[in-house]
Amino acid sequence: MKPNWQGPVLTRRQQLAGIAGGLAMGALPRMAWAAEDGASLRDLAAAKGIVFGTAINAGRGSPINDPGYGAIVARECGVLVPENEMKVYVLGDDPARLNFGPADRIAGFARDNAMKLRGHTLLWNYGKYISPALADMVTKTGAEKWLRSYITAVTGHFGDRIYSWDVVNETIDPKTGQVRGTVFDQALGFDVFKIAYETAREHAPHAQRVYNDYMSWEVGNETHRAGVLRLLERFRKENVPVDALGIQSHLGNDGSHSGVQHAAWKRFLDDVTAMGYRLLITEFDINDREMPRDIAQRDAQVAAVAKSYLDMMLSYPQLDQLLCWGLWDKHSWLNGFAPRADGLPQRPLPYDEALRPKPMRAAIADALRAAPVRKGIA
Ligand code: XIL
Repeated sequence: MKPNWQGPVLTRRQQLAGIAGGLAMGALPRMAWAAEDGASLRDLAAAKGIVFGTAINAGRGSPINDPGYGAIVARECGVLVPENEMKVYVLGDDPARLNFGPADRIAGFARDNAMKLRGHTLLWNYGKYISPALADMVTKTGAEKWLRSYITAVTGHFGDRIYSWDVVNETIDPKTGQVRGTVFDQALGFDVFKIAYETAREHAPHAQRVYNDYMSWEVGNETHRAGVLRLLERFRKENVPVDALGIQSHLGNDGSHSGVQHAAWKRFLDDVTAMGYRLLITEFDINDREMPRDIAQRDAQVAAVAKSYLDMMLSYPQLDQLLCWGLWDKHSWLNGFAPRADGLPQRPLPYDEALRPKPMRAAIADALRAAPVRKGIA
C-alpha cells in the first residue's frame, strides 16, 4: 500500500482480522477518506431506500485478498454479487457434487462486512456459456430433472443468505428478439421458465426472483427490448413467478454512447413497470472504447453518461438496487471483452487503477443525492 494512498479507514473488524494476512496491526495506516464528500455510496443510497453494491470475484483482484480494495468495497457497498462464482461453469455440472468454495468465500466476506448478497445466476440460458459437457449431462439426465435438481441444490445451499436471485439470465437473442434456443429450451419450450422460477420459489421462497438481461437504451437495441417485453408479458399471462427485471446496464457495449433513445427507453421502462415488475440495475459499467485517450476528458465523459443514465433510472420508484460490475477499473471484465483500439485500459468504473475515486463516483453520489426517496427492498 502506498504511503500517500488515500481511501477509507479500515473497519475495526478488518483491523482486528489483519486482512492483509502479513500486516502487523501497528502498521495499518490511519487513512482519511478522501472522496469529494464524506458519505459512502452505501449510506447515500440507503437514505433513499436504495441498496448500492458491486460484483466481486474470489480470485485475482478480489477485495477479499486486497486490503486496499477490500476497505473500499466494505465502506461503499451494502450488497455484493459474485461475478462468476455462482455460475454453472464454476459450480459444476453435477447437482450432487457442486463446488461452492469460491461462492462461499464471497458470502463470508459479505457476512463479515454486514452486506446483503445477490445470486447470479441459476440459468444462464445462452449457448455460449453452456459447455458441451453440461449439454451432455442435461441431455442424459433429462432437461427438467437436471434443472430442478440443480436449482434445488444451489438455492438450498445459500438459503436465506440470498435475498434476490437472477433466476434466468440473457435468454433473449438481441438479433431476433426470440428465446435463444439452448439445450434447455429446445427440450422444454416455454416450460423452461416455469420450471426455473417455480423451483426457485419453492426452495428460496423469501428471495426476489429476477429476469436479468442486457437490452439497453442505445440505438440498435430495439429488437432486444421488444423481445424482453414479450417475454415479460408472457410471464404474466402464464403466471410465471417473476418479480423484477434486472437491467444489466453495460452502457455503450454496442460501440457508442451517441445513439441514446431516451423516449423509447422510457416507454420500455413504463411498459415493464406497468406490468407490476420492479426494476434493478445489476451490472453497471460504462464502456469507454469510443472516448478520447485523454484521461481527464474520458473520465468526464464517463461521468456524464453515468449521471444522465442514473437520473433517469432513479426517477423510477420501482428501482431500489444499484450494483456496479466491479468498482475498480483495474479488474473490469471490459478489458478482455471490449478492449480499446489504442491499447489503453478501459476506465468504466468508479475507482481508478490506483484506487482513487473518479468523477464517475461523484456522478453516482450526485444521482443518489438527487433521487427521490422510495420504499425499497432494503
Ligand atoms: C462476465 C464476467 O464479468 C467475466 O469475468 C466472465 O468471463 C464472463 O461473464 N452479463 C452477465 C455477466 O450476466 O455474468 C457477465 O459477466 C457480463 C455480461
